[in-house]
Amino acid sequence: MTVLVIGATGELGRATVSALSAHYDVLGVSRSTDPSVNLTEPETLDALFANHDPFEAVVVLSGAVPFAPLAELSREDFQTGFTSKFLGQVEAVQRGVAHVVDGGSFTLVSGILSDHPVPGSAAASSINSAVNGFVVGAAPQLPRGIRLNAVSPTVVTESVRYHEAFRGFEQIPAAQVAQWVLRSVAGEQTGQIFRAGW
Ligand SMILES: NC(=O)c1ccc[n+]([C@@H]2O[C@H](COP(=O)([O-])OP(=O)(O)OC[C@H]3O[C@@H](n4cnc5c(N)ncnc54)[C@H](OP(=O)(O)O)[C@@H]3O)[C@@H](O)[C@H]2O)c1
Repeated sequence: MTVLVIGATGELGRATVSALSAHYDVLGVSRSTDPSVNLTEPETLDALFANHDPFEAVVVLSGAVPFAPLAELSREDFQTGFTSKFLGQVEAVQRGVAHVVDGGSFTLVSGILSDHPVPGSAAASSINSAVNGFVVGAAPQLPRGIRLNAVSPTVVTESVRYHEAFRGFEQIPAAQVAQWVLRSVAGEQTGQIFRAGW
């Protein structure tokens, strides 16, 4: 059986595909792959699920969040971020649940900003908290022993573009975040927020 990784071409996605591939068949997708999945167009998910045998696990490692001073964050900024990182992941679970095997799992991604903000992170911090809240609220309601967790990384060593904003934060390699995803997929826990590196 196969693990589906959405956001597979990104920094965390590539490391996760590599870590999972030692143990599972992995199908990695994003907007730029074939098949293509765009989490802001959730019908693309339906098309993928309709054309594939049920998955052992679904992992989501995508989602864009805006960074700007609070006074400059518009309603549209919040809506765009919530649509991409929050609703995209919610819909991956809602639309995917019928296409995951008994005892399978979902692993979503949030981030350290839910608890430790940086300048400009009001939207990102809100969205990460919403993802964590969804995991806590939805996990007990999933059928057939299907589990749901989030991995919440600190800033990643390879993501150099974030380092200036995350001054003073300990960094961890993407490969270490990938081990937390593997632990979520392979383990038995549900409703957990796995803090990777903090
Ligand atoms: N990197 C870090 O330090 C860090 C720390 C904490 C949390 N996070 C969170 O982890 C997640 C991934 O971060 P990353 O640094 O790995 O990002 P990244 O390198 O920018 O990669 C993003 C991945 O998601 C895909 N993607 C983007 N929009 C998509 C959409 N609408 N539908 C489907 N796929 C989409 C991208 O591929 P395409 O462009 O081909 O679609 C790519 O595969 C984000 O939610 C981020 O907030 C990252």
